[in-house]
Amino acid sequence: MANWGGYWTEVKLDVLSKYLSAFNNASRSAKSTVYLDLFGGSLSHTLEQSGKTFPGSTARALRTKPPFSRLVFWELDAQAASLKLDLEEAFPGDDRYKVVAGDCNRCLEEGLESVKDLRWAPTFAFVDPKGLEVEWTTLEMLSKWRRDKKERKVEMWILVPEPAFARVLGLKGTRGEGWPAQLTGYFGTDEWIAIYQRRQSGEFGPQRTRDEFVNLLRWRLEKVLGYEWTHDLKLTNVSDQPIYTMVFATDAFPGNKIMSSIYRATRAKGIPEQRSQAVANRQARRREARGLLTLFDPGAPKVKSWEYKHFSPWKPPIKLPETVVFDEPSESNDSEDEEVWPSPDGS
Ligand SMILES: C[S@@+](CC[C@H](N)C(=O)[O-])C[C@H]1O[C@@H](n2cnc3c(N)ncnc32)[C@H](O)[C@@H]1O
Repeated sequence: MANWGGYWTEVKLDVLSKYLSAFNNASRSAKSTVYLDLFGGSLSHTLEQSGKTFPGSTARALRTKPPFSRLVFWELDAQAASLKLDLEEAFPGDDRYKVVAGDCNRCLEEGLESVKDLRWAPTFAFVDPKGLEVEWTTLEMLSKWRRDKKERKVEMWILVPEPAFARVLGLKGTRGEGWPAQLTGYFGTDEWIAIYQRRQSGEFGPQRTRDEFVNLLRWRLEKVLGYEWTHDLKLTNVSDQPIYTMVFATDAFPGNKIMSSIYRATRAKGIPEQRSQAVANRQARRREARGLLTLFDPGAPKVKSWEYKHFSPWKPPIKLPETVVFDEPSESNDSEDEEVWPSPDGS
């Protein structure tokens, strides 16, 4: 059982459950559907702060109604055995799924091989890394997997961890080894350097930088891999600071319509309700820690809701002619970045 994340993990997984059910309903006439989970994780999650437990993505996919015909889950060697054992115990006799042990970037084909008789079927891929573990070549291979008469591609739902960009770019004062190569592997291009240059010069602030990274991925999903629509949903922590963005890519009209409506409802209602509850829990914990007993429970506070509006990705900036020296110390203001790249619990 994984013990991490905050209320936004549950929001994310609730969106997943809603979409998977709608996806299979919309694909009824195909009679078969496939689910791919590249970062399978564990059977269930426990929220650090509240201790609340809820099912992870693999269990949700297996419970989806109408059901998927076949499912493939990738997970690193160390975790794959326990995921397999837990799934066997929770879903005895269910032979629709396969757990592939190993790095999904290296073992993608091994898993896809097990569903190659269903290459024509509507297929959904959940790409849910913690950081920058997914490589562009993996997304590219997924996008080319289906053999559909109408040339529709595997739909993808990808977690984009903007705080991880800040970390590898040294914006928090820490610098990962080989990070330029890692980012180039992530985006499948070194065009991200254009964003980095503008962040370093101060032209882009932290918020704009974050938006540009997400935009670059969306732009490439549409313009390079040929997805017709992409959507992004920002998830924030208790203090309303962005944690990560969920990017959806599809070339199926029903998929576009359904996910737009789920994103709208999540922004208007799902996120505010769950964030409000998380804020109330945090306030109660703080009162308790200070030994304050209140007869009157103030209840969950009202938090703002936003409207979800789809917009197309814009043309990303192009690289400036100046030579980029990556191992120079970062000139960015760490305290400002700390504010914008906060700790997940919002403290
Ligand atoms: C954010 S968790 C996934 C949570 C899961 N999707 C869920 O909702 O229950 C990321 C998982 O990916 C696994 N992982 C990390 N790198 C991986 C890789 N290259 N290939 C496959 N799994 C990986 C980690 O062990 C971790 O369990």
